[in-house]
Amino acid sequence: MKIKRALAAALSTVMLGSAIPATAFTASAEPTTTVIYSSGFENGECDFTARDGACTVSAVTSDAASGTGCLLASGRSKNWHGPQIVLDDMIEQGAEYMVSAKVKTPWYATVTLSMEYTDAGGERHFSNIQQNIVSQGDWVEVNDAKFSFPTGVTNMCVYFECSDTGVDILVDDFVLETTPVYDIQQDIASLKDVYSPYFKFGTAVTASELAPVSAQNLIKKHFNSLTPGNELKPESILDKNACFEMAAAGDDTNPQVNIASARTILDFCRDNDIAVRGHVLVWHSQTPDWFFKENYDESADWVSKEEMLVRMENYIKNVFAALEKEYPTVDFYAWDVVNECFLDNGSARTGGTQAENANYSGWVKVFGDNSFIKPAFEYARKYAPEGCKLYYNDFNEYMPDKTKAIVAMANELKAENLIDGIGMQSHLDVGFPTASAYKKALAAFAETGLDVQVTELDITTSDTSEAGFETQAKLYSEIMDACVEYADSISSVVVWGTTDDKSWRASRCPLLFNEDFTAKPAYYSIVDGLEVPDPTDPPETEPTEPSTEPEIDYTPGDVNYDGAINSMDSVTLRRQILNRKDLSYSEALLPVISPSDTDGNGYIEVADLVLLNQFLVGEDVEFKVYTGK
Ligand code: GLA
Repeated sequence: MKIKRALAAALSTVMLGSAIPATAFTASAEPTTTVIYSSGFENGECDFTARDGACTVSAVTSDAASGTGCLLASGRSKNWHGPQIVLDDMIEQGAEYMVSAKVKTPWYATVTLSMEYTDAGGERHFSNIQQNIVSQGDWVEVNDAKFSFPTGVTNMCVYFECSDTGVDILVDDFVLETTPVYDIQQDIASLKDVYSPYFKFGTAVTASELAPVSAQNLIKKHFNSLTPGNELKPESILDKNACFEMAAAGDDTNPQVNIASARTILDFCRDNDIAVRGHVLVWHSQTPDWFFKENYDESADWVSKEEMLVRMENYIKNVFAALEKEYPTVDFYAWDVVNECFLDNGSARTGGTQAENANYSGWVKVFGDNSFIKPAFEYARKYAPEGCKLYYNDFNEYMPDKTKAIVAMANELKAENLIDGIGMQSHLDVGFPTASAYKKALAAFAETGLDVQVTELDITTSDTSEAGFETQAKLYSEIMDACVEYADSISSVVVWGTTDDKSWRASRCPLLFNEDFTAKPAYYSIVDGLEVPDPTDPPETEPTEPSTEPEIDYTPGDVNYDGAINSMDSVTLRRQILNRKDLSYSEALLPVISPSDTDGNGYIEVADLVLLNQFLVGEDVEFKVYTGK
C-alpha cells in the first residue's frame, strides 16, 4: 500500500516537528457583524435623498414589505435617478460593509445597487455593487451586498438605480452593517515561509479586497509580496483633471499622476513591511483613449510617435517620482513595464481604441507596431529606483509562438541591459494547459538567463465538487513543483487574489482560499511535503527514536509521491537537504520516515541524493526503508 501524500506529511510532522501539518484545519469561529444603520421607513422616517435632487424620494405608507412604511422614489427620468444615502458620517474609509434590503418596482424592471464617491482631485467615481436585482412587481431581497470606499475620498454614498427610466423604485428593510470578521486559520503553514528557500510568495489585491480585517490577516500570514490589482494602472493614476488643465494651458506633453487610489494598499505594505510588485506602466488596456490623443481630447487625432514618446517618458518619470516621494521606505522590488503586447501567434496587436475593440492597442496605433516596448524599458530603467527589477508580462505565455516572440523580444532588450525578467501571468484552467506545456515555456524563459516571475497565478475549475477541487489541487501542485524545480531562475510567485469570491474569475473558484478564509485543497497541495525551518521555535523535547516499527509503506526515491522516480525527485531531494542544513537546532538530528531517506538510515542527507542519482543514471543500487531500528 502506498501512503497518501497528505498522510506522509502529517507523519513527518510527528517525526520532524517542523514539517507542515498538511491536514490541519480549524473551523472559523462564528463571525460577527455590527449594524451601522437600518431603516424600515416607518412613521415618515427617511434619511435617503434623491440623487442630484432629480426625482422625488419619501417614506410612504402604502405597499410596505414589512411594517407600515417603505421608501418610494418616483418621477425618475434617467437611469441613474433614484434614492441615495450619504455615508460620510457613518462609515470608515477602507473598511468593508454590506447592505441588505428589499427592493420592488411596480412592473418588470432591473434595479442596481451602486456606490459613488468623489476623489481628492474632485472627480466623481461610480461603480455597481450588485446588478440584476429583478422585480416583477414583487419585493425581492438584496442580501449582504459588499463594498468599501477608498481612503481620502468624500461624498460616499450608496444608491439604487434602474435602467427603466419611467419606473418607480421602492425600498424597505434597509440594513447597513460591517462584514463578518472571520478568524483565519493560524495553525496551518505560512506560504511565504514554506517557499522562503525558493522565492517570494505573493498575492494581488484591490483596495476594496484589502478592506476586510480577515483579508489583511490572511495576507500578513501568507504573503510577502503584494501587487495592487488595479491601483497602479494608468487609468487609476492618470490625473484626468490635472492633465486636462495643463492641456488647456497649452501643454499636453506631461501627463500628471495622482496615486491616491493606491494609498490603502501602499500604506498597508509600508506598515507591514511587505514588498510591492508594481503593475503596470505601459498597457493597451485600462489606459484611457484620451491619453493617446491630441490635447487629451478623445475625439481628436492620435498624437505623433514623437509626442507619444515624450508623454511616455514623462508619465513613467512622474509615476516613479510620486511613489518615491510618498513611499520612500516601500520596497518596489519589481515593476511590470510593459504588459500583453503579443497575440497567441506571436504577432503584435491591432492598433485602435478600446471603444472599437477592447483588444486593440493605442500604443500600436501610434507606433504602427511593437516598437514602443524598447523606449518604455529605457525610460523605466532611467527612472526606476535602485533595486527595482523590470519585467515584460503576458498571458497565454505557454502558447509556443507567443513564447518564441517573448523570448526574442526579451533577448534583444537583455543585450542592452534594459530588462531584468519575464512575467508569466499564469491564468490557467484545470483543462489547459498541461503542467508540462507550462513547464516548456518556463524553461524557455529561464534559458534567456533573465529572472522569471509568476505574476498572476490562478487556476479555474468549472467542477466545484470535492473531486473538482482535488483536480485543481493537483495542477496547482504540479505548477509549484515546476517553479521549485526552476527556483534558481524564479524570484517570485504571485497568486492573483486571496479568496475565491473576490477573484475576477470567481464563478470558477480559481484561488487557494475559500470565501470564509479557510484553505482549499489547492493550498494543502502546494505546502504538502515542504518543511518550514523555524529557528525561533526550537522543540523542547530531546530527540527520540521511534519505539515501534512504523506501519507505513512508500517507495523510497519517489520523493514527491507522484508514483515515478525521476529527476524531479532528485531536484526536490536536493532542496530538502539544503533546507535541513539550515536547521540550527536539534531538529536536524531527528530521524525521519520518508522516501527521501533512500539509504534507510533515518536521516535525509547527501548520501541519499548520491544514491538516488546513481539510480537515475542506471546504476544497480538498492534503496532501503527506515525501520526505526
Ligand atoms: C490581466 C492583467 C491584470 C488583471 C487581469 C484580470 O492579466 O495583467 O492586471 O487585469 O488581467 O483581472
